[in-house]
Amino acid sequence: MKNLNICIAGLGNVGSSVIKSIQENHSYLKDKSSIEFNILGISAKNKDKKRSINIEQFEWFDNPLELINIKKCDVLIELIGFEKDLSFDLIHAALSKKIHVVTGNKALIAKHGTELFNLADKNNCLLLYEAAVAGGIPIIKMIKNSLFLNKVKKISGILNGTTNYILTKMKEDNLNFDQVLSIAKEKGYTSDSESHLDIDGIDSAHKLTILSSLCFGSKLNFNNNEITGISKLKIDDIFYAEKLGYNIKLISEAYVMDNKIYSVTSPKLLDKNSPMANVNGVLNAINIETNHHENIFVEGEGAGGTATASSIISDLYEIVSNSKISSLGYKSKALIDLEKFHTNSISSSYYLRIMTKDIPGVLSNITSLFKDLEISIKKILQLPENNQSNSPIPIIITTHNVKKNQLIEAINKIELFDFVLEKISIISIDNDD
Ligand code: HSE
Repeated sequence: MKNLNICIAGLGNVGSSVIKSIQENHSYLKDKSSIEFNILGISAKNKDKKRSINIEQFEWFDNPLELINIKKCDVLIELIGFEKDLSFDLIHAALSKKIHVVTGNKALIAKHGTELFNLADKNNCLLLYEAAVAGGIPIIKMIKNSLFLNKVKKISGILNGTTNYILTKMKEDNLNFDQVLSIAKEKGYTSDSESHLDIDGIDSAHKLTILSSLCFGSKLNFNNNEITGISKLKIDDIFYAEKLGYNIKLISEAYVMDNKIYSVTSPKLLDKNSPMANVNGVLNAINIETNHHENIFVEGEGAGGTATASSIISDLYEIVSNSKISSLGYKSKALIDLEKFHTNSISSSYYLRIMTKDIPGVLSNITSLFKDLEISIKKILQLPENNQSNSPIPIIITTHNVKKNQLIEAINKIELFDFVLEKISIISIDNDD
């Protein structure tokens, strides 16, 4: 029997769920793992906050930095969640004292991970972060352990539950973005202070940064991301995409090309029969292509206390198992610097929605401009929404593969036509030509 002495900083949904699970499953965990999980100390911003657990039995610390002074503390669980400041100081201090750290803090790992992993490696301890990516899905261990000796060709997925919920609900209930964002806040999926991280794609990009580093051995570099969120998506685009056989999802994808890293989070049209297009609500999912696998697809709960606590507990188990695998799989010193691959020269097919006046010459002007710029149109739809002669009409175009800079040149020219009434919606289409 091994004892694992734990301290926990941050008692929100995930922290409370970790304590609850360790309490409720104490003998099951002990029998199955031969580990006795002991919680030596806890800390949070507000001791008196109403929680689903009784915290009376644990020693309370107002200052989380004092947790690591507890004698025989083996592991600090950091769930405060600041991008730097106290979270960074606490993790740094713990690793400096050779205390292992488990965290769910994706922003901190994505932005300051390299320094902290170096420190962990130097002090021969682990900084684990299964909970930081896709909540309860054990994607980190899958890449770090089972797939480590594979060459990963590409990783892509839905890494943010809130935005996936918003897109799903907009489509199912025919609601606009702002309406569904309010519902998502009411349900507690996001909050006023944090929603921009979700809807602007930043949370997804934090997670993609961590996955890229694991898959490609690159230094954690958040600046390598190109990010477009979902706040400008219109219900009309969801509706027309569906008519064309697609669902719109916020997709994060990364691969290495010409020794540079392509790391992009943006809305995409996906074939509505593909598994990823059918990941709905707050679920997350990930596709991995390797030299051994055409595709591995995993789907599950990307957030929520109970599911995410599973990831935290799996990290505790890894620490005791002392797997000899370092925090990132790679020794942090072996990580390489990969430059950002700029997406302008990448080819993709695109969906465009052009709102125009209903007058003669609109289609011919647009199509001849595409011809001049050698952009091949795949489908074109003109769908008047009502019979009033003066109302704008949407022209929906999908293209064959075209380089992004070529498409942007065309869009800039089309937007100069008098008959174009608003900015053109442009969304890339996944795996289509
Ligand atoms: N805010 C995140 C999401 C959950 O909506 O997926 C935690 O990563």
